Amino acid sequence: MYPTVRLRRARNTEWIRDLLAETIVLPQHFIQPFFVIDGINKREEVVTMPGVERLSIDLLVEKAREASELGIKLIALFPVIDNSLKNDEGFEAFKEDNLICRAVRAIKAEKINIGVLCDVALDPYTIHRHDGIVKDGDVHNELTIEALQKQTITLAKAGADIVAPSDMMDGRIGAIRKALDLEGYFGVNIMSYAMKYNTNLYGPFRDAVKSTPTTGAQYLSKATYQADYRVGCKQAYREVELDVAEGADMLIIKPAMFYLDIINNISNVVDVPVIAYQVSGEYAMIKYGAEQGFLNWENTMMEAFVAFRRAGATAVFTYAGMEMAKFLNNKK
Ligand code: PBG
Repeated sequence: MYPTVRLRRARNTEWIRDLLAETIVLPQHFIQPFFVIDGINKREEVVTMPGVERLSIDLLVEKAREASELGIKLIALFPVIDNSLKNDEGFEAFKEDNLICRAVRAIKAEKINIGVLCDVALDPYTIHRHDGIVKDGDVHNELTIEALQKQTITLAKAGADIVAPSDMMDGRIGAIRKALDLEGYFGVNIMSYAMKYNTNLYGPFRDAVKSTPTTGAQYLSKATYQADYRVGCKQAYREVELDVAEGADMLIIKPAMFYLDIINNISNVVDVPVIAYQVSGEYAMIKYGAEQGFLNWENTMMEAFVAFRRAGATAVFTYAGMEMAKFLNNKK
């Protein structure tokens, strides 16, 4: 009891605070997403995500090399598809020379020491911007799974190391594992977006990939497949249990900051790595706070990353991965 016990003794110098730090964040914990566009030597600012750019493949390859040199182990690629290449079924997703496949091949051809992850979902390719095939006014589970199997094989052929189904259809992990194994892609990992909430925080991403609705917000509601944010750990646990049984190698919980309870509970009960996805809205909130001068950008981002890892996440998707890796490397 006080005054014999004084907890401030554990905080009274920098070295003792460092000594007692339990949660460490390193560049190797960051998964860096990139938005890919067609063209040569082209870069475009993402207006809603200051500091984030869309890059043509040649510039992307340079960034991938830089990311590897900074200590980042995995990058995630999101294609920005021209409207003329979109239709109701997302046909462009199955073409072996589409933008994302060319991007993966270009990075792999350079033998850069970094993993490449590709999202599996049709939303970059569909006119209605849903993640799957729409039938009778809703995304059809079985038709979508078939399409996702095809999309996965196209990505695996291009050389993707990890496929990340982000569509939230039932049964897709098993179907995708089966398709990969049938084609002999035993080594391709599946990182499942196991519990992906229908959050308000995806807005800037949809701007980045130019998939903001044209036909009214209602039309784009993903509420019939992404999880309702009012449900908690029980439904998350069922999603996770099924994905693990179907062959998921790693799981994503998304978003991260408002869902630390889910990250914590799930990582306590499953024996596969749990990954936190700091989504575009989380990035933007902290970025705009910093731009307004009332948050310190780097320190606030570090606090968020520590929170994700403290909750039990192994790695973190963050749009600020390279920037924060530089920050950490310079501190050494
Ligand atoms: C699409 C997809 C989304 C994100 C990743 N993959 C958006 C959505 O479901 O509409 C969101 C990422 C972010 O906001 O950072 N399947």
